Amino acid sequence: MLEQDIERVLFTEQELKDRVAELAAQIDRDYAGKEPMLISVLRGSFIFMADLARAIHLPCTVDFMAVSSYGSGTTSSGQVKITKDLSESIEGRDIIVVEDILDSGNTLSYLFRLLQARHPASVRLCTLLDKPSRRTKPITADYTGFSVDDLFVVGYGLDYAEKYRNLPYIGVLKPAVYEKG
Ligand code: PRP
Repeated sequence: MLEQDIERVLFTEQELKDRVAELAAQIDRDYAGKEPMLISVLRGSFIFMADLARAIHLPCTVDFMAVSSYGSGTTSSGQVKITKDLSESIEGRDIIVVEDILDSGNTLSYLFRLLQARHPASVRLCTLLDKPSRRTKPITADYTGFSVDDLFVVGYGLDYAEKYRNLPYIGVLKPAVYEKG
């Protein structure tokens, strides 16, 4: 079972639910009268996106993008490739990029340049987790669920070797799992 690989729970299901509701309420206030487009960056953000979208009461649309970064192990590099592009035009739209985690900032730095070139009305970033200590690019989130230390976190969309995404909470992975791995 997945649970046996978890050292400790960092954010429970209830804590995640409460924080997601707060973020959604803030978005509802900030975008009152507008119709934002939520862009989920796959795959890590799929669960956060689904919960955030359901907690937002404004009319909004959703779209999805997938990117892969060439990096070794747990660090992303500056090189990012789009493996799935958006289905809709973002020209003139108010975009909220929805991410599970902001780490080095490489992925978002690339993505923001790409999105800006398509002339949206605005682009903001909503990330569930932020690891500011790991940042190498000057990216800051407009909406942050939780700031976390540099721990190996999994669950609620976040993976290690593509597993653990389906844990309903966020936990710290036992080092033995990735040390052997
Ligand atoms: C994660 C996350 C961000 C990126 C952040 O994706 O979803 O896209 O890393 O890291 P950075 O700030 O160092 O660029 P990941 O590459 O793990 O892919 P996944 O979403 O499919 O899990």
